[in-house]
Amino acid sequence: EQTLLVLGIETTCDETAAAVVERRADGSGRILSNIVRSQIDEHAPFGGVVPEIAARAHVDLLDGIVANAMREAGTGFAQLSGVAAAAGPGLIGGVIVGLTTAKAIALVHNTPLIAVNHLEAHALTPRLTDATEFPYCLFLASGGHTQIVAVLGVGDYVRLGTTVDDAIGEAFDKIAKMLGLPYPGGPQVERAAASGDAARFAFPRPMLGRPDANFSLSGLKTAVRNEASRLTPLEPQDINDLCAGFQAAVLDSMADRLGAGLRLFRERFGAPKALVAAGGVAANQAIRRPLREVAAKAQTTLMVPPPALCTDNGAMIAWAGAERLALGLTDTMDAAPRARWLL
Ligand code: KG4
Ligand code: ZN
Repeated sequence: EQTLLVLGIETTCDETAAAVVERRADGSGRILSNIVRSQIDEHAPFGGVVPEIAARAHVDLLDGIVANAMREAGTGFAQLSGVAAAAGPGLIGGVIVGLTTAKAIALVHNTPLIAVNHLEAHALTPRLTDATEFPYCLFLASGGHTQIVAVLGVGDYVRLGTTVDDAIGEAFDKIAKMLGLPYPGGPQVERAAASGDAARFAFPRPMLGRPDANFSLSGLKTAVRNEASRLTPLEPQDINDLCAGFQAAVLDSMADRLGAGLRLFRERFGAPKALVAAGGVAANQAIRRPLREVAAKAQTTLMVPPPALCTDNGAMIAWAGAERLALGLTDTMDAAPRARWLL
């Protein structure tokens, strides 16, 4: 057992990111550099991520981002213990760019390659930031995914619940678009909701009281659209109230679904060491109070990584790579990029 130094590359969506992370023999971690270049400006005119533009931007940006991450960490490629890239799930053009770059570095410098599942990287982030012990219950909520997962060990995950339609971040983005707020919508909706009256509209709380731990967002989205279409012209206060009502409904539904998920966790695996929230939606501040309440009710503690490590970044990929490398789990040059890849 030794200290591992891993370069991580993230290109699955609209962030071009690279980071260098250290993992010590005792399992603790340290971020030496973490560079994220958001492509928001490139995609904003289109109101969402355009896959072709994302892939081309990753090609243009990645070499420079990797060089910056290496320089800031003060290391050379020869010192690396391994190179990790997110090999999916995500937009395939970007995934190919990141994985191929990692393969080239691994090949030239004769260093191990780790093809990381992007969702696994979100799942393992609390072990980098807070040395969270297994088993824990993960609530992963991003633009592409909404899942409750029992994290039992590295590579040992059991899905307890998922969304039957939209992801939570996706719903925030669609509500923003519907109300004329700029992309990406999550932070915009949160900001508008802070000045809104959540009680003005009686929006449904999807899936409330069901014994399974699944989510559904599309009915709520339709309810918001129906109310919005009745209000023309849409005044700023209307937008704030619609956002507040939407967010309150999402949080109520989420709290109920997580309560069900934690019950399923306890039945199957005993008490979780923590409830961990990850993914872009976990950067939302209003989500904290219901999350804390759900955790307290389940007699566990809430862990939320800092916002910059909740949204997509290279450090989480490097860390997941280091965790796998520590167990000897490396990949070969024929590791395939994957658009879809269940945890
Ligand atoms: O994890 P992430 O950076 O990328 C994906 O893998 O999808 O998550 C991005 C998603 C977007 O849908 C964004 O709108 C949402 O996370 N998000 C938020 C907030 N910040 C980002 N949703 C609600 N409130 C926020 N403050
Ligand atoms: Zn993500």
